[in-house]
Amino acid sequence: MRSARARACANVALVKYWGKRDERLVLPQTGSISVALDALWTETSVRFDDGPGEDRIEVEGTLATGGDHARAVRVLDLVRGRAGFRGPAEVSSHGTIPLGAGLASSAAGFAAMALAASAALGLELTERELSVLARQGSGSACRSIPGGFAEWLRGERPDGGDSYAVRLHGPQHWDLGIVIAVVERGRKPVSSRQGMRQATESSIFYAAYRASVQRELHEVRRAIAERSLSHLGEAAERSAMRMHATTLGADPPFSYFLPPTLAALSAVHRLRAEGTPAYATVDAGPNVKVLCAASDALRVAEQLRGVPGVGAVIVSGPGPAATVRPE
Ligand code: PMV
Repeated sequence: MRSARARACANVALVKYWGKRDERLVLPQTGSISVALDALWTETSVRFDDGPGEDRIEVEGTLATGGDHARAVRVLDLVRGRAGFRGPAEVSSHGTIPLGAGLASSAAGFAAMALAASAALGLELTERELSVLARQGSGSACRSIPGGFAEWLRGERPDGGDSYAVRLHGPQHWDLGIVIAVVERGRKPVSSRQGMRQATESSIFYAAYRASVQRELHEVRRAIAERSLSHLGEAAERSAMRMHATTLGADPPFSYFLPPTLAALSAVHRLRAEGTPAYATVDAGPNVKVLCAASDALRVAEQLRGVPGVGAVIVSGPGPAATVRPE
C-alpha cells in the first residue's frame, strides 16, 4: 500500500515572514520565528495509485482548485520525482482549523501533506529535507515540520536548499498561552501570497520593515530562551505592527484589519494596563492571537469573548512537530 497519514500543527509567527525573494521556490526575504499551536492541527492522508490519472486533493470534504490545487501538485511532484514514481495521488485532509481565515491552515496542511506523501512512497527524509519540501507548498509550512518554537533560516543559496526551519526549543520548553480571537471565518479577500507581493513591490515602508527584522529575530530568540513574556511580547507586537504598516504603505494600500481586529487589540492593551501581561499579533487576516502566561489564558479568552465581532476564541499552547500517524 503506497499510503500514509500525518499530522501537523498550525503555527503563529512571532517574527513575521513577509516577502519572498523567489516566488517559485518560496524563498523569503528574511528569517522568521514561530510557535506551533497544539489546538490547531491538520491530519492528511495520501495514497498513490498506479497508472494514469489526475491528483485529487480534498480539504475538509471540498476539492481543492486553482492555486491551492497547483501548489499541492507541485509538492506531490517533488516527492514523486525523488521517489521515481509517476502515479496520481489521492489526498484528503481534515482537522481543527477554520479554513482561509488567516489561521495558517495552509502551514499545517502542507507540512502534513509533505510528510504523508514522502512516507507513502517510502522516502526517509531528514527533518531539514521535509522542511524544504513543505516550504514549497506554503512558506510558513516549513516551520510546522519541527513544531515547538521554530526558526526558518532565510538561507543564501539560489536553489533554496539552505532555507528551512530548525527547532529552537520543543513545546515543553515554555508553558506559553496563545489565545486566538477568530474575527471572521470566510475566505480572506487578500491572500498572504498576494499581500506580501504587493507590499514587497510597492510599499514605501518595505525596506524599513526588512531592515528591522534582524533585531527582532535576535530579541525573540533570546526572549524564548529566557522564557521572558514581556520581551517576547514586545518584540512580537513590533514585528506584527511593522508588517501591517507595509500594507498601508503599499500602492494600492490595503489592510487585513477589520473593526473587531482593532477592538480586540484595544482589549489586549486594556488587559495589560490592568496588570495581565498579554501581547497581540496578527497574521494575514483579521484574527488576533494573544500571547500570555498559560495561567492567564482563560481570563484573556474571557475578555476576548466580550469583544463585539469576535466569534470563536481558541485557547492553545505550544504544539509538537509533524508526525506520521497510524492509518
Ligand atoms: O506561508 P504563507 O504564504 O501563508 O504566508 C504567511 C505569512 C504570515 O502569516 C503573515 C506571516 C508568517 O510568518 O506566518
